[in-house]
Amino acid sequence: MARIIAEVSRTFNEYLLLPNRTRTDCSPGAVDLRTPLVRHRVGDASAIELHSPFTSAIMQAVSSPELAIALARNGGLSFVHHNQSIEEQAAAVRKVKNFKAGFVTSDTNVRPDDTLSHLVSVMHRTGHSTAAVTHDGSAAGRLLGLVTSRDFHPQRHDLDGPVSGRMTAIADLPHADCDITLSAANARLWDERLDCLPVLDDDGHLQHLVFRSDYADNKRFPNQVVDGGKRLRVGAGVNTHDYRERVPALTEAGADVLCFDSSDGYSDWQAQALTWVKKHYPEIPIGGGNVVDGEAFTFLAEAGADFVKVGVGGGSICITRDQKGIGRGQASAVLDVAAAREAFVERTGEYVPVCSDGGLVHDYHVALALAMGSDFVMMGRYFARFDQAPGAKLPTRDGFVKEYWGEGSNRARNWQRYGQGGQGLIFEEGVDGYVPYAGDLNEGLAVTIAKIKSTMVSCGSTSLREFQSSARLTLVSEQSFQESHANVTVRDTSATVA
Ligand code: IMP
Repeated sequence: MARIIAEVSRTFNEYLLLPNRTRTDCSPGAVDLRTPLVRHRVGDASAIELHSPFTSAIMQAVSSPELAIALARNGGLSFVHHNQSIEEQAAAVRKVKNFKAGFVTSDTNVRPDDTLSHLVSVMHRTGHSTAAVTHDGSAAGRLLGLVTSRDFHPQRHDLDGPVSGRMTAIADLPHADCDITLSAANARLWDERLDCLPVLDDDGHLQHLVFRSDYADNKRFPNQVVDGGKRLRVGAGVNTHDYRERVPALTEAGADVLCFDSSDGYSDWQAQALTWVKKHYPEIPIGGGNVVDGEAFTFLAEAGADFVKVGVGGGSICITRDQKGIGRGQASAVLDVAAAREAFVERTGEYVPVCSDGGLVHDYHVALALAMGSDFVMMGRYFARFDQAPGAKLPTRDGFVKEYWGEGSNRARNWQRYGQGGQGLIFEEGVDGYVPYAGDLNEGLAVTIAKIKSTMVSCGSTSLREFQSSARLTLVSEQSFQESHANVTVRDTSATVA
């Protein structure tokens, strides 16, 4: 006969944090959000630390190279999705690893015999006013000159004339070699009063442009997560089907960490795959999941997982619970797994970080997930709303939305994530829809981080470890949940909040 677990399955909405005493030295500026990403001996540092506890979901609609770059610059990490060919995924990883802050790939490019009117239309399309003139009009062609919107005027110059007539030719153009550093490039921009410095390879082909404005921009990201070579860190999702081919290609491409992506990670397949990766690629950390209880956590930790991801059925696009009757409230799942992690620490002296994945609806849910013992969170819906996410941005009567679809939807058809038998989906476990557009990730995430720091200050904590060990949580009744919300007619003042 089935065993009924005594505890009810609970979600984040059912809990609140009680404020603890806040000492005078406990202020948002003093809060440190650094957190371990991978397994380590207690007392040692994790080989990879995040500077803010956020990772983006292993999903087509979320973890593109652009989003990975933006998130790593803000202290978090993306796991590039595996619902694409091995070559495509490796190329996406390389794109993140090759990103050099301040060194941009030129997106406004023309050939010398293109007309000025063509140049105007290219500038209009990209929104940029500096164009590279290359022999073939590509971003990596041989550089022949630069032309900016200040070099011609539609009323003074014949727009049918060639770009070459108005460009600054390469002979008169200051430029740099590939080995130049960002600070050296910046020094030249100021010393030589330049707005833009092209960087060329030995054959004169354009590699990057460095703009004066971007140097200041890079200073905005003091919390970037980088490797020993100062390259942004990036993770990648893998599955239990083609890992023997995918893991080597991703390691070769420079991925810093991998994660098995499965809707149900409590399986012999995942344990076998973890064992294989640990044997053949011991240098690359790899996480496992998803699980919802302590028993499954211990199973994956013993199989070698470097972190364990928690969450089945709570994702915003998820219909697994409707379809299969499988899952658990995310709060109960995290609490159970975190308790098993502490027992694992006691037994082995090894700390295996826990990630709460999916179902985080409000910013304060992140604080709850951390207080309950997660070391970091993974979010899909949250990141899909930003400019940097790959989904299309569409206008509606009430503003903009972004497309967001589940990996188990017919659109993504990620059969490797769902064990339904055979190659393909027999039934859907996710939906295809829209989320409200939320602008730029840098700005949105800064607000979320400010809220979490403020919660931690109220709870008297300046580090996540302290927050976890001292947090006091209370269950909320239906009535006290009602009390949490405003009880007047609300005037919209959002535009006045900085
Ligand atoms: P969200 O942050 O609530 O949108 O949840 C994102 C998480 O949902 C992902 O990290 C996955 O664990 C999970 N997920 C992604 N696609 C699907 C799906 O189609 N069905 C069920 N769960 C999904």
